[in-house]
Amino acid sequence: MIKFDFETYINNFIDKNKIREFIEKKEIIYDKFTKSNMTGWTKEFNRALVADILETRDSIRANSQCLVVIGIGGSFLGSYALKEMFSKYFNDKSFEVIYAGTSLSSKYLSELIEYLRDKDFTVNVISKSGTTMETTLTYNAIKELMHTKYNKEEMKERIIITTDKEKGILREEEKEFDYKSFIIPDDIGGRYSLFTPAHLLPLAFFLDINILLNGFYEGLSLKDEAYNYACIRRYLFDTGKYVENYCVYEPNLYYYTEWLKQLFGETEGKEKKGIFPTSTVHTRDLHSLGQFIQEGNPIIFETFIKILNSTNFYINGNNLTGINNVVLDSVVKAHYSGGVPCSIIEINEINEENIGKLCAFFMMSAAFSGYLFEVDPFNQPGVEVYKKFVRDNLSSLE
Ligand code: PA5
Repeated sequence: MIKFDFETYINNFIDKNKIREFIEKKEIIYDKFTKSNMTGWTKEFNRALVADILETRDSIRANSQCLVVIGIGGSFLGSYALKEMFSKYFNDKSFEVIYAGTSLSSKYLSELIEYLRDKDFTVNVISKSGTTMETTLTYNAIKELMHTKYNKEEMKERIIITTDKEKGILREEEKEFDYKSFIIPDDIGGRYSLFTPAHLLPLAFFLDINILLNGFYEGLSLKDEAYNYACIRRYLFDTGKYVENYCVYEPNLYYYTEWLKQLFGETEGKEKKGIFPTSTVHTRDLHSLGQFIQEGNPIIFETFIKILNSTNFYINGNNLTGINNVVLDSVVKAHYSGGVPCSIIEINEINEENIGKLCAFFMMSAAFSGYLFEVDPFNQPGVEVYKKFVRDNLSSLE
């Protein structure tokens, strides 16, 4: 179950005549969306590939104590977000999935290599372009360790490459050494690649990817709701609400908000336009940023993700999830009284079906938001700018 309240704590901020300008663009935007060559993620996933992913997961479990997933940005955030969401806070770590390549921290990488030295592990390197520096450096460092532990045949059993179908150095390597590989399709960009093998293989260790996919494809029917949300955001931007704050009440949803930040930030933030996405984890941040949101510069609107049911844990005779949600409802009212427009997206519980639907909703809405800002929702030229500066500066060090 997924429910949207884009009215109760929003309507007072909206001029119905002015928002119409955006609502009326719906058919044109749907048409652009349908005709885009970057919406491959709306096509039904090949279920034979799911079987392959599950088989691969089982063979990794059979020969390894951990899987090292190397990738960054759109090749990292989605699976990490859902891994966090579906994992226990405390677990016995009988099999570990470790993420690497998201920084250039020598401390992290050297400690990881020490940690892996006496373990049997498999690597899944994920990069659509195959040229991302953080991914390449990390992969090379891990391979160096692997060469000290494994022979050629064993390496073949332990390296999985997820990349473009044809292009890039990783594809060349896969061909040369006949490594197991998966494809990130041409018509799916990094931040929209959650429902591709780039994320589904790591996620298969944490959740039922078939149900997740079912939820996602069902969620594509929430197109009108996604468009409505995009129009509200776009309208609020014109009234000076330049920042959207995603509020969650379960700490393990923090990385889901990180995924949302990439999804919306990279989609809209170009040509000097776009809403700056940020997030708070409650109740922790009510004791810090809550002050700013309530009474500070009124540039913020909020989207609350409300989970109705969680673990049945009682404290002093009261259900703690119930208390958490009373706090959520109270905070919405408080922030609204302080001039902050608030949307609420409610799901009955965290499960694969609901989260698949929620992701479909946000992915479509991000794309529609890009079109409402009249930018290309599927490129990220700004990311390329920093990459070029880094390349130039590093080559001058050589
Ligand atoms: O959304 C994007 O395209 C980026 O965040 C990329 O995913 C990120 O830069 C990693 O790129 P690649 O998968 O090519 O290594």
